[in-house]
Amino acid sequence: MINNYSTFQKNDEHKDYEYFIRKYLKGLGFAYDRFIVVDNTPGIVNCVEKKILMENLRKELGDCKRCELYKTRKNIVFGVGNPCSEVMFVGEAPGEEEDLKGEPFVGRAGRLLDNMLLTIGLSRTKNIYIANVLKSRPPENKISNHLESIPICLPFLMKQIEIVSPKIICCLGAVATQAILNSKLPISKIRGHFHDVNGIKVLPTYHPSFLLRNPIAKKEAWEDLKKLKKMIDILREDN
Ligand code: URA
Repeated sequence: MINNYSTFQKNDEHKDYEYFIRKYLKGLGFAYDRFIVVDNTPGIVNCVEKKILMENLRKELGDCKRCELYKTRKNIVFGVGNPCSEVMFVGEAPGEEEDLKGEPFVGRAGRLLDNMLLTIGLSRTKNIYIANVLKSRPPENKISNHLESIPICLPFLMKQIEIVSPKIICCLGAVATQAILNSKLPISKIRGHFHDVNGIKVLPTYHPSFLLRNPIAKKEAWEDLKKLKKMIDILREDN
């Protein structure tokens, strides 16, 4: 590697060490964005492993045909974000835009979610991981017509949670809340309170699509976000 680097340095186009590291890791098959800081800090290896485990899980999901939804979906929507995050968000199922792009929460609801998260310093490109209960879009977004898909798909979400091992999960809406908390309470009753699930603090809140339809509920969602931020700060102080 050193030799390679020396040779590399001679090339006027590529003097930058970081560039070399990125290229080297990419050559080994790693997505390189988490490797920009190359040091011996405990946790870095952990993040590398999480990234690899997540990639392997995506491979295991493959071109999933475990339920009927594969017939109508355009793309699998696996998850997005930093698998080395302390906070994870769980949504329901991809909608039309997510299905087209293969990424969760990229439509109107997703833009609202991104803006809400920004206000408390969270971003899908940096410090959260987002996934849905279902990885394939139910036709017309009617998950209620495809409830049989939930237990089929759920093990993949659970594995994602296991890999990320977040300190906090924020459940967006009733479907995610029921899947994670196994509770049938209406979201209006259960939201805004932390629940402990195997040591993970789980906070249910409204789904951003619900907030688009019911802007009056944004006030309560904002209260939930403030609680989330407070919990993140408390857990960081504890460390
Ligand atoms: N709604 C969800 O629950 N998930 C998405 O990815 C998009 C919209």
